Formats: sequence, C-alpha cells, structure tokens
Amino acid sequence: MLYRQLFNQLQKFLQKLRSWRAGVFLSVLLSVTLLLIWRAIAQQPVTLNLLMPAPDVQPMREAMVKGFEAENPGIRINIVEGPNAANAVEDLYTSAFLLGGSPYDLINLDVIWTSKFAAAGWLLDLTDRVTKEELAAFSSQDVEGGRYQGRLYRLPIRSDVGMLYYREDLLKAAGFEPPETFEDLLKISQTLQQQDRTNWGFLWQGRQYEGLVTVFVEVLEGAGGFWINPDTLEVGLDRPESLRAVEFLRSTLQQGISPPGVTTYIEEDTRRIFQSGQAAFLRNWPYVWPLANEENSPVRGKIAIKPMVHAPGQSAGATLGGWGLGIAKTTRHPDEAWRAIQYFTNREAQRRFILQAGYVPSRLDLFTDPEIVAVYPHFPQLLEVVENAVLRPPIAQYAQASDILQRYLSGTLTNRMSPEQAMRAAANETRRLLGSRG
Ligand code: GLC
Repeated sequence: MLYRQLFNQLQKFLQKLRSWRAGVFLSVLLSVTLLLIWRAIAQQPVTLNLLMPAPDVQPMREAMVKGFEAENPGIRINIVEGPNAANAVEDLYTSAFLLGGSPYDLINLDVIWTSKFAAAGWLLDLTDRVTKEELAAFSSQDVEGGRYQGRLYRLPIRSDVGMLYYREDLLKAAGFEPPETFEDLLKISQTLQQQDRTNWGFLWQGRQYEGLVTVFVEVLEGAGGFWINPDTLEVGLDRPESLRAVEFLRSTLQQGISPPGVTTYIEEDTRRIFQSGQAAFLRNWPYVWPLANEENSPVRGKIAIKPMVHAPGQSAGATLGGWGLGIAKTTRHPDEAWRAIQYFTNREAQRRFILQAGYVPSRLDLFTDPEIVAVYPHFPQLLEVVENAVLRPPIAQYAQASDILQRYLSGTLTNRMSPEQAMRAAANETRRLLGSRG
C-alpha cells in the first residue's frame, strides 16, 4: 500500500516535470529508500518461541537465554510460561500442532514425548547435525530419550531422577537410620508422628497426572515389577508386584502417614509442605535441593537425599525424567533454532543452568565438576542413580498408556476401586491399546 502510494505520487510528479534528469534523480531516490526499508526489515531480530513448565522459566532465562542473546544479537528467545504440570504443557504443544501452524519454534520435550512427537511428524530430524563424539558427552539414557526409530529428534538440556528426601535431624534425634524398605519408611514415619516430631511422614505426588506415574514406576521397580515391556509390549500391571506397589502407596494414606491432600498434589505442593518443615520424607526431583536449602528455608541444612525405598530383597527404583530441545518442523527459522540448541547444550551454559537450579546434568562430566560438587555434594551419587534409572516405556502411544495408568491409580488411591479391580482394568485397557496379549 505504502509503496503503491509513493509510486503513484512519483509518477504524477514525473509527468509534471517531464524532465529526464528529474526522472533519473527520483528513480535513484526511490531505490535508495527501498534499500533502506529492506535493510531495516532484514535487521529485525528473529524471535524463537519456546513453551516451558513455569518452574523452569526463571533458570532458563537467567542461566541460558541471557548469555545466548548477548552472543547472538540477531536472535531473541521468547519463553512462554506454561502450567506447572508436565502433561498440561504437553497438551498445549499437542493442540498447537493439531490445529496447524504451531507458534513454537523450539520444543521443550519431556523425555517421554519424543516418540509421540516424532511419530506425528512434528519435529525436525536432527540426526545429521550432531556427531557421535558430541553425543558421547551426554548420559546415554538421556540421548536415547531423544531418539525415535533410530533417528535423533531431541538433545538433552537436563536429566532428572526421582529421589527420596528425608529430615536427617529428625531421624538422628529419634535414633533411626535412613529407611531402605517400604516397611522402614512406614515405621519411621509413624514413630516420628507419634512422638510429635513431625505432622506428616511421607509426601509424594498423587494427583491424576504424569507425576503420579513417575512415583508409581519407582515404587513398582522397587517391588520388582514392570509396567510395559517396550520390546514385547507385555503388560505387567495386574501382577502381584504391581499390587504390592499400589498397596504401599495406599497404606501411606490409610495410616495417616501422608496427608489426604496427597491425592491432589503435584511436585510444587509437596515441596512447599516439606520445605515448611511439616514432613519427614518427600519423594521429588533434585530441583528441590537448592530451594529447600535457601537461606530462609526452615529445613535448611537439615535434609539429606537418597534413592527410594523398596521391597526386601529388591533394589531401589528411580524414574528417569528430564528435558531436552527439539525443533518444530513448521518453524521458519530452523538454523537459528539449531544455533540456540547448540548453545543451550554446551558445557558452560549447562554448568550455569545446573548451578542455578540444581537440575541433574545431562553432560556426564558435570556430575563430578568440582565447582558443581562444592554446591551439590550429592551429585556424584546421582550419576549412578541416573545410569540405573528406569525409563518409562518409549512407545508412540505413551501418552494414552500413561493416561490409563493415571486414571486407575487415582481410582484406587481415592478408594473408588479396590487395587485388584483397578490394576486388572488398567492392564486390560493397556493391552487393548497396544494390541498385546501379554
Ligand atoms: C519432571 C520430570 C519429567 C516428568 C515430570 C512429571 O519434570 O523431569 O520427566 O515427566 O516431572 O511430573
């Protein structure tokens, strides 16, 4: 519009002058103006949109985005703050892709989303952009979490692993060693509650959402069971070990060891209660450590961390979590997006990110980095836990399988169904979903 008006006016002017010199002069003027406008447009920074769960936004901005933007003045990262719960963020990404024209350029992927997003064709294949040597710097589990059918779609920016936090001060005062078995945890909790040393024994995430699945997978592993075998698609939800795992979680509620609110809590709810000093044990991710040890935290210096409790004769299970970045197939800026991923996964940016938020590193050498270990003495121990962590099944139907499990677990935890009924129904529905017989 603007150009056309300009052009018309010029034409009229030229006709009036009927002079070739003025014509040349004005053509040059017009070209220069157009060139300036073009340059101004070309210099506009490219903006990359990225949606993240709310608690991750601040550390991402501070430790990663600021440095990246300073080094790359032509690229801006616009972080959209999503809900706290991981699967609510997944729903937002999913509906953006299903509606077409996703507004996101970079995709912040939970370790369990890659298969679904890649199978749906929403992600760019990154395989040829990274060398084997570059990948070898990361924990192999985290890298695997970014592959689908042998191709790579996501690079890890942080790992995660479920752990048990406990109040070292309370346990010591009452003469207890840290718990190893389900029974130990129940007994210690009850005693501390009876002695009025704590309001609550054990906090965990029991809302009907992905976090409940991560808790269950951990307890299930500790009971010697399994959910879905990704190779054979066998389903283990109605086996005795699964019932044992459900019984443990239910008993924490029935015995008043966990507050009734647990069945509605996600990570941050439980973290706040534990941090205010009202519970002896907390199942959560390592991001809790720096927050619970903040200067004004009532439990600062009083807590310790260890792998989850398990059944006698079994070993502790830890669910592998973690986040990574992929590129939306629909982005108009794949090269800028790749530049950002390279920066966010480099050693220095990762180190700042970990130091700032206490996240579990994806780069193996950061677990034993002296500067990091000075702040997080439990990290070398975490490396072993991460390497043996349990993966949720990496299958394209993961979201549906998780949804089934969430629904029935919640049904039995809130006493709407017996454990047997719930787990039989969950197993059968999962078998139908996967077309498996096992
Ligand atoms: C953490 C984990 C993620 C998991 C989520 C569940 O963010 O890193 O893998 O799915 O918690 O709430």
